[in-house]
Amino acid sequence: MSHAVAAAFLALDAHAPSLDAFRTLDLFAADAARFANFSVALDENFLFDFSKHKVTRETLDLLLALAKARKLEEWRAALFAGEAVNNTERRAAMHMALRDLSSRALPVGGENMRPAIEAEREKVYAFARAIRSGEARGATGLPFTNVVNIGIGGSDLGPAMAARALSPYAGDGPRAHFVSNVDGADLADTLADLDLARTLFVVSSKTFTTQETMANAASARARLVAALGEEAVSRHFAAVSTRLDKVAAFGIDPSRVFGFWDWVGGRYSLWSSIGLALAIAIGPENFTQFLQGGSDVDEHFQAAPLDRNIPVLMGMLGVWHRNVMKRGAHAVIPYDQRLARFPAYLQQLDMESNGKSVTREGGFDTHATGPIVFGEPGTNGQHAFFQLLHQGTDVTPIDFLVAAEPTAADTHHHALLFANCLAQAEAFMRGRTLDEARAQLRAQGADEKDVERLAPHKVFSGDRPSSVFLYRRLDPRTFGRLVALYEHKVFVQSVIWDINPFDQWGVELGKELANRLAPIVENAGASTAGLDGSTAGLIGWRRAKA
Ligand code: F6P
Repeated sequence: MSHAVAAAFLALDAHAPSLDAFRTLDLFAADAARFANFSVALDENFLFDFSKHKVTRETLDLLLALAKARKLEEWRAALFAGEAVNNTERRAAMHMALRDLSSRALPVGGENMRPAIEAEREKVYAFARAIRSGEARGATGLPFTNVVNIGIGGSDLGPAMAARALSPYAGDGPRAHFVSNVDGADLADTLADLDLARTLFVVSSKTFTTQETMANAASARARLVAALGEEAVSRHFAAVSTRLDKVAAFGIDPSRVFGFWDWVGGRYSLWSSIGLALAIAIGPENFTQFLQGGSDVDEHFQAAPLDRNIPVLMGMLGVWHRNVMKRGAHAVIPYDQRLARFPAYLQQLDMESNGKSVTREGGFDTHATGPIVFGEPGTNGQHAFFQLLHQGTDVTPIDFLVAAEPTAADTHHHALLFANCLAQAEAFMRGRTLDEARAQLRAQGADEKDVERLAPHKVFSGDRPSSVFLYRRLDPRTFGRLVALYEHKVFVQSVIWDINPFDQWGVELGKELANRLAPIVENAGASTAGLDGSTAGLIGWRRAKA
């Protein structure tokens, strides 16, 4: 770590105690323009409010000094130039090229990828149109009413979360379903109510080797063949992968195979052909709007000054909480039911990217890195884990996401939803002192014994930080903005922590051991010699029952 970086971290640590002298609410009293000064509008349809974090202008200046010491602007330029920022795998991470709707060249490793990207997107769109219009039909001549995406991780979470978020834009297109878990219940339950004669399967896998996806694809194929015969496969299966050789071996009609490139990471691949199920579900025009939303954020991330740059502010506030305030978790609470899977999507994006302990060059001297990310839609979360967020011993920063306009035409429900969102953010900041708790109990008629007995339980520390993402409505463009904002936030933090966010070596060991154990589990006669005592004992217990 350079002297400048170490000094920037030390300056933040030295600054932190000065904030103990006041409460977050006092910052609003001291600065009538705090809301304006500590919020950024992407445009008239999208606002990021971070005024409820207990930070001052000085805090932000120190955080941005750290970003400069880490050469954030240079790293950002390298990312967008298509340089091999994924150093361990010697690749670019150029998912932004997939959503660049301008006509400029898109160099990746020196080659202009624009023609290839546009050709592949056109192929996806033509197929999506053919399925939606009923021009492409199943083996018995029926139009498709269902599309089942078979994939896992980035080949599932993105399209699954997006199809749900944008379901009002589906029109009369096929319904999208998603099968990911190797647990056969996932495929069986999904297919239980579907008519296979009207069902299209999309096998999505960057590598086309992933155990879960290959098992589910083989079982789905067997189900289809049993119902409609071998010749139905070419009409009912499509595939998305970077490994076209492996797809060919699976027997999928080459005209229904859609490619992308190794410089698109799995968790960044929704913008690529991996979005096929989404493009079928919402149609190409809406998909283009989604790309436009991502592109809006790319422009903003590159052009806005650091102190008015939403992903930079998101990232640096996260660094403040993680490294200076030592907070280990981060909650994302959409007050938007259709974003129910957004926290799960962000778990992969954030935790698979920044859940690392070594620096880019393999050193062990990094700071604390990615927090645990979790969340559920509000208001449901309020009735589950918010107790801990309000009164638990750990402070957890929260992102609240909410639309200004209802998507369902029910203004009453939306008013309640919106009020709950802002009330929670306010409660986390405001808190309630012991004296306030006593006063409330007295006002409610409690006797003095009960006042003293109950008041401590009604204290809220307050000063619990949250951001609010307020957008006009959850349309495809807004949705694309949200996804891209979090992608760049994760990148910003990776730069501060000096880690490569684009590899995922941490998923390998479990995969290797699962491949080694699978034949031992499947074959009751196989020896468990050489396994640790616990693993061998558990296999033995299962054998005794099975
Ligand atoms: O196990 C993690 C992972 O490699 C993710 O990074 C990826 O999104 C997922 O598996 C699925 O991989 P694939 O698209 O190659 O099937």
